[in-house]
Amino acid sequence: MAEATVVRSEGSDPGQASDDLVTREDDGAVAILRVNRPKALNALDAATLRRIGERIAEVGADDAVRALVLTGSGTKAFVAGADIAALRDMNPEQASAFSRLGGGVFRQLERLGKPTLAAINGFALGGGLELALGCDVLLAADHAKFGLPEVTLGVIPGFGGTQRMARLIGANAARLWVMSGEIFSAQEALRLGLVYSLHEPEALLPAAIAWAHKMASRGPLAVAAAKSVIDRGLDLGLDAAIELESQAFGQCFATADQREGMDAFLAKRRPEFRGQ
Ligand code: CAA
Repeated sequence: MAEATVVRSEGSDPGQASDDLVTREDDGAVAILRVNRPKALNALDAATLRRIGERIAEVGADDAVRALVLTGSGTKAFVAGADIAALRDMNPEQASAFSRLGGGVFRQLERLGKPTLAAINGFALGGGLELALGCDVLLAADHAKFGLPEVTLGVIPGFGGTQRMARLIGANAARLWVMSGEIFSAQEALRLGLVYSLHEPEALLPAAIAWAHKMASRGPLAVAAAKSVIDRGLDLGLDAAIELESQAFGQCFATADQREGMDAFLAKRRPEFRGQ
């Protein structure tokens, strides 16, 4: 339906194959996805958004992968936003459809049943920051810059930024960011709890991969359940959220991983989780 109105991939670099708009390399059980449009500071057009969605689905279906790290090509940008050249001539219906496309892909990322980390290696602006907000944990290089500058272009964030920023850093700071369109330092993002930690540029990806391996080594069903309960609980009242946790806690005891984890502890050996 509406999505058909944004199928054009304006802004994609002529000659760049769609399958390398988002590259994938694996480090054991960790998949590393890189948004790869260096000529446009990795800005997101429709083709790149779709490719991200395909890569997430691929990682979700791959039993050998237990965690995901998302980053940007090069050292200057994570993702500098939605592609402004692609946005410029959209009519309201096309713009809403584009917003739903990006919003849907980022929700897919948020709902992936595996832990996800954003390694923010430079500018994370507009749709780029919104992409990072779809990840479970955000780590950044100390030179990274953050912001939701959409109002400087006469529009508002369209990939969930108005909602996720308020949930993550509170309505006061979110309003200041969204309504001023200002660009902020990595240190300010850290102060607000938008990112978990800052790193020297060359240490960022190794740090994200190390956390990903740590999470990948834990019981995968438990990690997925924890992720789901945290995410779903944020939208519930405390009583309902605590009940959600109790149910999920109980469901862990229907898994072989629970027995393996506790047997291994009692036998003083390392657990071998099979995700069952
Ligand atoms: N869309 C399209 N192209 C972009 C882009 C974007 N979001 N960001 C950068 N580029 C392109 C530039 O046009 C430039 O291309 P050319 O070399 O062909 O001229 C190239 O990337 C390099 O960028 P700059 O020359 O501008 O680099 P700089 O170092 O001077 O500035 C920057 C870097 C501050 C990130 C600046 O590029 C910038 O402000 N970019 C736009 C950021 C922005 O407004 N993002 C929000 C987009 S709207 C959105 O995201 C809506 C939504 O929520 C759905």
